[in-house]
Amino acid sequence: MTRWLQGRVIDNRHWTEALFSLRVEGAPLDFEAGQFVRIALDVDGERVARPFSMVNPPQDPVLEFFGIVVPEGPLSPRLARLAPGDALQVAPNPAGFLVLPELPDAQTLWLLATGTGIAPYLSILRTEAPWRRFRNVVLVHAVRHARELVYREMLESFPRLRYVRFVSREPLPGALAGRIPAAIRDGRLEQAAGLKLAPDRSQIMLCGNPGMLKDTTAALVERGMRKHRRRAPGHITVESFW
Ligand SMILES: Cc1cc2nc3c(=O)[nH]c(=O)nc-3n(C[C@H](O)[C@H](O)[C@H](O)COP(=O)(O)OP(=O)(O)OC[C@H]3O[C@@H](n4cnc5c(N)ncnc54)[C@H](O)[C@@H]3O)c2cc1C
Ligand SMILES: NC(=O)c1ccc[n+]([C@@H]2O[C@H](COP(=O)([O-])OP(=O)(O)OC[C@H]3O[C@@H](n4cnc5c(N)ncnc54)[C@H](OP(=O)(O)O)[C@@H]3O)[C@@H](O)[C@H]2O)c1
Repeated sequence: MTRWLQGRVIDNRHWTEALFSLRVEGAPLDFEAGQFVRIALDVDGERVARPFSMVNPPQDPVLEFFGIVVPEGPLSPRLARLAPGDALQVAPNPAGFLVLPELPDAQTLWLLATGTGIAPYLSILRTEAPWRRFRNVVLVHAVRHARELVYREMLESFPRLRYVRFVSREPLPGALAGRIPAAIRDGRLEQAAGLKLAPDRSQIMLCGNPGMLKDTTAALVERGMRKHRRRAPGHITVESFW
């Protein structure tokens, strides 16, 4: 049986009407940057739990989670309404393989996300490992609307980060239009990053919408890359959010 940790909300920042970042104290966790943990609320006497990726780096004892309201969802609208002082249950056992120790070495680390899939990368980027292990680090964040390009200040604080934005449902100067897989196929992603996506130099992480994971994997396979497995090292490591 899960022995839940009793966390307490200290802050709930709303970026848009749907996007929020919760900060939670009192639930110390031992985890690897990029992992997730189940968080829960009691709803009508039932504990409703969902996995959420940590945004904070492991050395920071305040947990941070970045979420979106799925209006008909059982948990996310309730998380968005939490206020300082409210309780949040946190499972004691973080998990997940979207972590750098699982990856082979390469010249370039590509971190590709849709929507809230940026969360685990924010944790990874605030550790030393990506900067020590890779000559180039690229973060690609794809969102529907410009206002969903969150954590801008933090991203601008990484001097070596190559940050590429996709905004799919309105024009935004400086951002790419459309979707990641199409921009891999027609070369726009490589052009925006100023780097080649090739099996001899690239490790790619994908996180977020399962359709993006599938379509992007197909585009990368066309370039000679394959899924990474412990027993058969490759180039693509994925984490699906639903
Ligand atoms: C390993 C893992 C890590 C995750 N980390 C995060 C995270 O850091 N932040 C986060 O917001 N969510 C994350 N999720 C999704 C999260 O667990 C919930 O599914 C989400 O918060 C919605 O919960 P819900 O109970 O309201 O609806 P659910 O019943 O869980 O989901 C209903 C539907 O909402 C859609 N949906 C679910 N999650 C998302 C999302 N993140 N963005 C867009 N559409 C979505 C899907 O169509 C899904 O079928 C993660 C999921 C997994 C498996
Ligand atoms: N975003 C909002 O304004 C908003 C507001 C309130 C609630 N919500 C809820 O949040 C959920 C959606 O969240 P979201 O906007 O973060 O997620 P999303 O639908 O995953 O969209 C994020 C980005 O991923 C792209 N994408 C989707 N499928 C793809 C694929 N197969 N290959 C490559 N790229 C793909 C989208 O492009 P396209 O635009 O081309 O699909 C968009 O640029 C819904 O449940 C919705 O009800 C969203």
